[in-house]
Amino acid sequence: MNIPLLRTDKLCRQVDGKLIVNAIDLEVYAGDLVAIIGRSGAGKSSFLRLLNRLDEPTSGAVYLHDQDYRQLAPRQLRRQVGMMMQAAHLFPGTVADNLRFGPRQQDIDLAAAAIESLLAQVGLPAFANRDILHLSGGEAQRVSLARTLANQPEMLLLDEPTSALDERAEREIEELLLQIFQAQQLTGLMVTHDTAQALRLANRAILLHEGKLLYTGSVQEVLDAQSTLC
Ligand SMILES: Nc1ncnc2c1ncn2[C@@H]1O[C@H](COP(=O)(O)OP(=O)(O)OP(=O)(O)O)[C@@H](O)[C@H]1O
Ligand SMILES: [Mg+2]
Repeated sequence: MNIPLLRTDKLCRQVDGKLIVNAIDLEVYAGDLVAIIGRSGAGKSSFLRLLNRLDEPTSGAVYLHDQDYRQLAPRQLRRQVGMMMQAAHLFPGTVADNLRFGPRQQDIDLAAAAIESLLAQVGLPAFANRDILHLSGGEAQRVSLARTLANQPEMLLLDEPTSALDERAEREIEELLLQIFQAQQLTGLMVTHDTAQALRLANRAILLHEGKLLYTGSVQEVLDAQSTLC
């Protein structure tokens, strides 16, 4: 039987009496790249944040390979399920300092060659000793991606990873994500407001509306369903 890599079961988060994530049931299989579509305030970021326990569910559950994710230490979970957001949130210091941080939590000291290899994967060769203060937005997003990849995740959660970038940097990061997802057979969930980007990257999509999962289907089907919402 094919077990989903990630499954949510009536996942909820209630804040101030309001269900911002309302009973979401979703199955994500290895190799899927699922676009999360929905208008501003629909609960897209809130849903993603629950999936690696940046926020706690108020009810319902998340399973990774059929195991309740509360059985994993949050740090272990966040290595397995990496996150890339709109802004890079790098720590002060060099690019290499940022890449070493995650593996060091597991007592692994990344060798210079491993750092170079990660930087090569994200198209930033010879950036190891650059201060993060002097990176462009696109370069910072690449470092953020390399930092996540340093943990060898099985799954990536992407919350509008290109929306703060100009068009050229956006297309470059998008191309990189495509390459990395294919080469490493990663699984992902990606929030994007850019419908063309969703069509280019994702193999299926879900539509969130007022915290609920309204529709799942191909990206085009979900975009069509969204256009019928008033
Ligand atoms: N910590 C919080 N406390 C109270 N309400 C919150 C909190 N976080 C989010 N919300 C509310 O939950 C709803 C969903 O917010 P969320 O950020 O998940 O939307 P989104 O779909 O990601 O929107 P956008 O496309 O604008 O990023 C909104 O009504 C928001 O105001
Ligand atoms: Mg959001």
